[in-house]
Amino acid sequence: MVKLVVVSRSGSESTIEADEGISLMEALRDNGMDELLALCGGCCSCATCHVYVDPAFSGDMPPRSEDEEDLLDSSDHKTEQSRLSCQVPVTAALDGLRVTIAPED
Ligand code: FES
Repeated sequence: MVKLVVVSRSGSESTIEADEGISLMEALRDNGMDELLALCGGCCSCATCHVYVDPAFSGDMPPRSEDEEDLLDSSDHKTEQSRLSCQVPVTAALDGLRVTIAPED
């Protein structure tokens, strides 16, 4: 199991555990983080799974695809740390990752 620290929009922190191989979005959703709407179910077409990831782990994730980049560009809250959580696979390298749920657009 991979441990993730999740910070909600209100700033409350919780630690969750996720199986390797699922997406970060699925890990958040399966742990009841319902602020994360993930409306398209992980098809990279809605941007409602927007999170900020700890930059120390950026190298342990696949780079943003063109589609992910385009969707993030449509958000008023895009930063260098932005990712669509459905596009980030949970791997052992992400153990201890801190994920902050981005504000709603
Ligand atoms: S769930 Fe829709 S883009 Fe990630």
